[in-house]
Amino acid sequence: MKNQKCNPKETAGECAAGFVEDGMVVGLGTGSTTAYAIKELGRRVADGLDILGVATSFQSSFLAVENGITLTTLDEHPEIDIGIDGADQIAGFTAIKGGGAAHTREKIVALSSKKFVVVVDESKCSDILSHPVPLEVLPFALKLAIRQVAELGGKAELRMGVRKDGPVISDNGNFILDADFGRIDDPGSLDTKLSQCCGIVEHGIFTGVDAVYIGKGDGSVEIRENSF
Ligand code: A5P
Repeated sequence: MKNQKCNPKETAGECAAGFVEDGMVVGLGTGSTTAYAIKELGRRVADGLDILGVATSFQSSFLAVENGITLTTLDEHPEIDIGIDGADQIAGFTAIKGGGAAHTREKIVALSSKKFVVVVDESKCSDILSHPVPLEVLPFALKLAIRQVAELGGKAELRMGVRKDGPVISDNGNFILDADFGRIDDPGSLDTKLSQCCGIVEHGIFTGVDAVYIGKGDGSVEIRENSF
């Protein structure tokens, strides 16, 4: 029989949601792949699963509420059992995130998680990272941030709104730059350098991902666990 469900984002998201257990605090990432995980968690909650969610954006918060998932905060639950989130590109266990401008809260949730799982379809996997790195930037520091990116060999572009005049404003009230560094041979070093830049609130390089769930076109999901 033909596998009817072969949306790779959906199978990856649902697969990760299947590993969530009763009593867990779950980090709810942002984006279209994580949305499938949130919807699946909602279905499991309707069947009796008892969890609390920590949202990474207005998008994931609205979706969680819509799907009957009780939300909590990092103040109440500073330690998250499992964080599930998407990525724009992944090589090994390092991801570039922030296509939805949510990477600052996503990183806070990732670093608060005992296990941080990235859910992607195959198209996001690469041997070398090269996707532009999203940067959340204080509006006051815009020009300085662009200059610092140039000093690191990159070219930063202010992300503009769609159906909104002017720049994208993040959930935290900041601008987003997309910084193109070409091929990123040493993401760990770029991570450190961007973290040292003044006015850049957070960047989208996520190192040390614990597991990657890759949805394939044939309906299967490849699970890669990081053994460190
Ligand atoms: C949100 O800011 C991003 O980090 C998303 O998680 C990332 O862009 C992946 O999104 P999709 O699952 O929609 O591709």
